[in-house]
Order: sequence, then C-alpha cells, then structure tokens
Amino acid sequence: MVKNTVMKNKLKELSFGQAHVAEASAVLLILGDKSQYDIEKVVNYSIKHHLIENDQAENKRKRIETYFATHPEDKEETGLRLDLGLFSMNLMHVIRAFGYDSVPMRGVNFNDVLDYLKISEKLFPIMLLPIGKARSHGHDHIREDSKNFTTIIH
Ligand SMILES: Cc1cc2nc3c(=O)[nH]c(=O)nc-3n(C[C@H](O)[C@H](O)[C@H](O)COP(=O)(O)O)c2cc1C
Repeated sequence: MVKNTVMKNKLKELSFGQAHVAEASAVLLILGDKSQYDIEKVVNYSIKHHLIENDQAENKRKRIETYFATHPEDKEETGLRLDLGLFSMNLMHVIRAFGYDSVPMRGVNFNDVLDYLKISEKLFPIMLLPIGKARSHGHDHIREDSKNFTTIIH
C-alpha cells in the first residue's frame, strides 16, 4: 500500500498520468506469489489453525495434488490472475461496504512500478487499486441483460 504523496505522484506518472492515482487516499498494488502454491504449506496451515486434524492431512494433500494435476496452469500466472482477481473483487466490495470507492487498474507500466518500489521480480503484478472517498460521481455504468449471455439447460 502506498500513501505517501510523492510516491503516489510517481505511480500516477507510471499509469499514463491517470489523475485518480495521485488523488486516492491510498494505492494498493496487488501482487501474486507463486511460491504460496505449496501443498505442504497449505496442509500445515490447515492443521495449525485446526481446520483439519492430523489424520486428514494425507487426504487433503492428495486432493490438492489431483486438482493441480488436472489444471497445472492453476499454479502459474493463470492461477494467480484468477485467485488475485477473486481476492481483489472481494476487497473492492469490503472497501465499498466501508463507504469508500476503488478502481481496478491495468493501465499501468508495472515493470517500472516494481523497479521504483524495489519489489522482487518473483512477485507478479495483477493490478493497481487506488482507494478513496469519491468527491463526485464516476462515469455512468451499463449492465448487459444477463439473458444475453446465459444459457439455461433444462
Ligand atoms: C483490463 C482492464 C484494465 C483497466 N484499467 C484501468 C485503468 O488503467 N484505469 C482506470 O481508471 N480504470 C481501469 N479499468 C476499470 C474500468 O475503467 C472500469 O471502471 C471497470 O472495468 C468497471 O466497469 P464499469 O464501468 O462497467 O463498472 C480497467 C478495466 C479492465 C477490465
């Protein structure tokens, strides 16, 4: 999270001059970490927090292995984009529930942002998420009728 005014201005510059980056109260940089797709880590975490008992560990380990074997890309950049996309949408709802707004941004030169903030290249940039109190209404939104992209199978 970046709150410092000088740094927010630099992030604005690295986002093609988009004003809301500097105007935001805080700017979150959402990054993915592939090293967290570590089955032992996930299983041990579940045991530590009493989500499962020791004797359920092998079953959990095998199930995760099966899922990853079915979709190997879920451990890669594709998985990070899905997981962090879901995380970010949830976070945006929480931010809204507290009376603030946020905007998911990809119009950003992420390579230069990582350089500027001295962030490890092992972390994969997903989006920039400026947060703040909206002083005016944003642009209008149009929502496609769900009938136009839904097939109901009876
Ligand atoms: C791939 C992608 C990149 C985006 N990049 C930016 C951005 O750089 N700056 C910005 O203000 N909004 C960005 N947005 C957000 C859109 O402007 C828009 O607010 C968002 O998709 C919500 O859509 P809505 O206006 O229909 O609610 C991006 C959206 C997408 C899907």
